[in-house]
Amino acid sequence: MRKLWAILLVLGLAWGQGVEALWARSCAQCHGEKGQGVRPYPSLQGALPLFATPEGRRYLVLVVLYGKKGEAGLMPGFSQLKDEELAALLNHLRALLGAKGEPFTPEEIRRGRGLNLTPDQVKRP
Ligand code: HEC
Repeated sequence: MRKLWAILLVLGLAWGQGVEALWARSCAQCHGEKGQGVRPYPSLQGALPLFATPEGRRYLVLVVLYGKKGEAGLMPGFSQLKDEELAALLNHLRALLGAKGEPFTPEEIRRGRGLNLTPDQVKRP
């Protein structure tokens, strides 16, 4: 039993480091280590309420898959990442913001694929 916990702990740590490294590699250059934003790119603080509504969650999935173009500039899409990775990144952001709402599942990401949207077609609800 103790061994099982040790294994789970190690896996948990490895996974945690994985998502932090992934955030650092994919998102931090524009949104910062903590989502605070790196000028001229926006802070993600305003995304907090989006985690708690179905339309908001759908939008968050579309943003990471297809990107977003707006007043604050252009974000590229990250559809090359796996469903698990994108779910982990959104859950990392959820934790950074202390947002309410269920964690994202890879299935929720998968349902947003295949739409071929361009960044200017992704609109905030
Ligand atoms: C090249 C810079 C850049 C990178 C890299 C980037 N973003 Fe963005 N992101 C932006 C810009 C610019 C916007 C806002 C576009 C607009 O609407 O004006 C944005 C918007 C967002 C939004 C919507 C916020 C809201 O309140 O509507 C989310 C969520 C988001 N980004 C998450 C991420 C995540 C997660 C990553 C890493 C996978 C990431 N971004 C990588 C530039 C970037």
